[in-house]
Amino acid sequence: YFVTSIGCVMIKSGGVIGRSWAMLFAGGGFQVKLYDIEQQQIRNALENIRKEMKLLEQAGALKGSLSAEEQLSLISGCPNIQEAVEGAMHIQECVPEDLELKKKIFAQLDSIVDDRVILSSSTSCLMPSKLFAGLVHVKQCIVAHPVNPPYYIPLVELVPHPETAPTTVDRTHALMKKIGQCPMRVQKEVAGFVLNRLQYAVISEAWRLVEEGIVSPSDLDLVMTEGLGMRYAFIGPLETMHLNAEGMLSYCDRYSEGMKHVLKTFGPIPEFSRATAEKVNQDMCVKVPDDPEHLAARRQWRDECLMRLAKLKSQVQPQ
Ligand code: NAI
Repeated sequence: YFVTSIGCVMIKSGGVIGRSWAMLFAGGGFQVKLYDIEQQQIRNALENIRKEMKLLEQAGALKGSLSAEEQLSLISGCPNIQEAVEGAMHIQECVPEDLELKKKIFAQLDSIVDDRVILSSSTSCLMPSKLFAGLVHVKQCIVAHPVNPPYYIPLVELVPHPETAPTTVDRTHALMKKIGQCPMRVQKEVAGFVLNRLQYAVISEAWRLVEEGIVSPSDLDLVMTEGLGMRYAFIGPLETMHLNAEGMLSYCDRYSEGMKHVLKTFGPIPEFSRATAEKVNQDMCVKVPDDPEHLAARRQWRDECLMRLAKLKSQVQPQ
């Protein structure tokens, strides 16, 4: 997908993430052109976006100040890459996570874009230094990594190539804010960026605890949903430290030795063995059987919860 906006956002590819970007940019009032190698993907995406926007409008959860119909009129499919790029101020690439494919696409874009448009990738884990290596327009290149589902989770990690111009980061930051997302800057590229490094740290300890028979998989998840997760939607781990004592310095004085003692007992990187995966899966399937219908229904429930949480957050944290 590309997204382009008015003046313009173009999305490259009609998959899951491309569709979400299209809806977000249209919500911000931008004209969006969708480009995908598969024409059918564009048709499916447009149909899917229409359905979803109508449902969101009925639920009072449509983003932006325009009606669903007005937002839909901003989104169009574009079968030709050259036309899709024309007039764009931002191109959001969302093709599958494959370095060679993405490099090919950025090389193609590099040869047809002007010096103003921003070339942005949705990649979850490919390094900007690999993705944008050797491009003439490298100063205009950036990773803008969304979180699934992007319509309900606002964070976008902005990761520059070492040669990305500061204005590219600033412009992308401003654009993300304009469409109601919450951008943050990763100052230097690092494997997994920031979100997945935190996520993998949690997953890895969760796995070890289950593997060692210290806790059952479903109880492990409860620790997050009924414990840590309750506060993490409002305050992060560092602010948690700050609030859990008389400020950060007091927290470190009181708890750093205890934390180090526990951290030293952490095990090695899990192998994610088949045996443990089956044990975890068995527990997970009690709540959510792993057939497509149950998984889809649970995802829908998750999205509804996130939508309500977003409403609550906007009431308690006016921006
Ligand atoms: P997807 O497989 O749903 O969609 C990919 C789309 O790209 C398909 O519509 C396909 O037809 C199209 N495509 C393939 N080759 C193309 C080409 N040469 N030119 C134009 N379009 C082409 O993939 P998904 O899940 O939307 O992921 C896209 C990107 O977003 C990946 O880089 C992924 O890492 C990233 N991402 C995905 C998240 C997720 O949870 N799905 C979360 C955050 C980022």
